[in-house]
Amino acid sequence: MWIKVLDISPKEGTMVATTLDGIKVFVTMNNGFLYAAENRCPHEDIELTLGCIKGNRVKCSLHGYSFDLATGDSSEEYVDNMKTYIVKQKNNEIYIKVP
Ligand code: FES
Repeated sequence: MWIKVLDISPKEGTMVATTLDGIKVFVTMNNGFLYAAENRCPHEDIELTLGCIKGNRVKCSLHGYSFDLATGDSSEEYVDNMKTYIVKQKNNEIYIKVP
């Protein structure tokens, strides 16, 4: 099932915070591709939208660890991966796939 989370498409390189069934998530456009992930750093529970996009990763503002936008892979072995979602755009609306 697809759930609409935004009525606008994020601008290239920006993260837009929103919610998915009460869960904080963000959507970003990076190099022309859409990504969506939980808006919570797995390290210490801070919003990842306070950080920035570097290459194909989101970098947390608190300790600087980063997470792959496509896979959620953490830059540190001892930090959990970021939860990612399948996302699509239809016209200007953004949808996330939920099981
Ligand atoms: S809280 Fe994000 S890297 Fe530490």
